[in-house]
Formats: sequence, structure tokens, C-alpha cells
Amino acid sequence: MSKHRTIKATVNGIAYERSVEPRLLLSDFLRQTLGLTGTHVGCEHGVCGACTVLIDGDSARACLYFAVQADGRHIETVEGLGTIDDLSPLQQEFREHHALQCGFCTPGMLMTCVDLLKKYPLASDAEIRDGLSGNLCRCTGYEHIVRAVRAAAARRGRKDDG
Ligand code: FES
Ligand code: FES
Repeated sequence: MSKHRTIKATVNGIAYERSVEPRLLLSDFLRQTLGLTGTHVGCEHGVCGACTVLIDGDSARACLYFAVQADGRHIETVEGLGTIDDLSPLQQEFREHHALQCGFCTPGMLMTCVDLLKKYPLASDAEIRDGLSGNLCRCTGYEHIVRAVRAAAARRGRKDDG
């Protein structure tokens, strides 16, 4: 009997059906099975936040999920935010405020911020810092990241386009 399980999941609006091993992590499913390498893998222990994606709209660590747990769910990754020629408003603020250096933490930071700004559209600095407290930036660019999210929240205040 095959050890594989067939799962159906929507990733960035596209429906996928794949046969996977039960032990396959969601992060590896996204990166290796679907080729969506925008989701980064750092610690693989739920500590760094680099692998953060949205599962049914809520931020979650893809390294702490098995792919089989994504069956029937809607996943959003950084590839679904914008393109190099058409950045999302949040990505534009990250660029504007130099909120990335090596960029390794950036996909996880962005996906965490999407969830944060959905829950707190006009997030205060305290809410931003608290919301990002589970994401590590090894380049220590936290101040610029907070500035970018602050600007995205202000942009939301002017127009709900964030
Ligand atoms: S790789 Fe998932 S939290 Fe670090
Ligand atoms: S920009 Fe390098 S880890 Fe954050």
C-alpha cells in the first residue's frame, strides 16, 4: 500500500492536487514540490519566522505544518503578493524604507505583516513590534522594517489598498 496521500490545496489562487508523503513539511511541499521558493527555510523549528505563509488567511509557520494538513486549505505565499513589476503596497513600502538587506527574512516578514495589517489595519508602533516579535532578521534591520509597516498602515489610513 502506498504511503503517499493525495492532497488538494489552493496556493495563491491556483488549485493543486499532489501525492505526498505524510512526513513532508508544508515548507518543503511549497519549495520542492510546487517550486515556490519564495518561502524561505531557516531554523525549521518554528523559531525564526522565515517560512511564514498564510493558511486560510492566518499567518502560520510552514515548517511546523505537514503538507497533508494543508489538504482542503487556502495557502498564500509571498509569490501571491505582487510581481517585480507590480509590487504590492506593502512591498513598495519595504523597498521605499530599505526594510531588507540580504532579504532572507523578507518573505516571512511580509506575510506576517499582511496578517498583522489585516487584524490591525492602523497598527500602532507597539502593535507592529509585537506582531513582528516572532520574526528574526539576521541583518538586524528591525527599525527599517517597523518604518515600512508603519508607512503601510498610514497608507491604509488614507486608502484601504494595503
Ligand atoms: S524555518 Fe520555520 S520558523 Fe524558522
Ligand atoms: S534582511 Fe537579512 S535577514 Fe533580514
